[in-house]
Amino acid sequence: MDPTRILLSSLLALGMAGCHKAPPKAPPAPPPAGPPAVDLAKLPPVDGVSLAHTCAGCHGTEGRIKSAAFVSLAGLPAADLVRTMKDFRTGKRPSTLMGHVAKGLSDRDLEALAAYFAKLPKDAGKGGQP
Ligand code: HEC
Repeated sequence: MDPTRILLSSLLALGMAGCHKAPPKAPPAPPPAGPPAVDLAKLPPVDGVSLAHTCAGCHGTEGRIKSAAFVSLAGLPAADLVRTMKDFRTGKRPSTLMGHVAKGLSDRDLEALAAYFAKLPKDAGKGGQP
């Protein structure tokens, strides 16, 4: 056997020995099979009152809250609410929370919410939270 062959075969043997010592690798886990993403536009229409329940925790019951940190939504002109929410959704308007909230709402949802909040009196003297 010529020296090159000896070198090659010993390298090969070493390589194989190395392979044997390597801990067995688990096959890559398949991606988790979650439910498919929801196409918001294909969901049946939801009325503004029902949707507004999801906002109440932060913006007050019926869109009124007495807080320096949270904004009341009652009486907000519909076009303003829709525009603001779309700006949150695209990131044009920076936000901590609202970007996430807005991404879960379709344009149709925004219209329904806006129509609902626009009709509520800004300050009914009750319903606002302390
Ligand atoms: C978990 C709390 C939370 C929830 C739920 C929430 N918001 Fe907000 N909202 C915020 C915060 C905080 C801001 C200030 C912007 C930011 O940092 O995200 C804000 C800002 C806004 C503004 C801008 C007000 C202004 O003129 O400055 C609008 C409009 C708004 N929210 C609408 C909604 C609507 C509609 C819903 C329900 C679909 C909703 N929010 C649900 C916390 C919340």
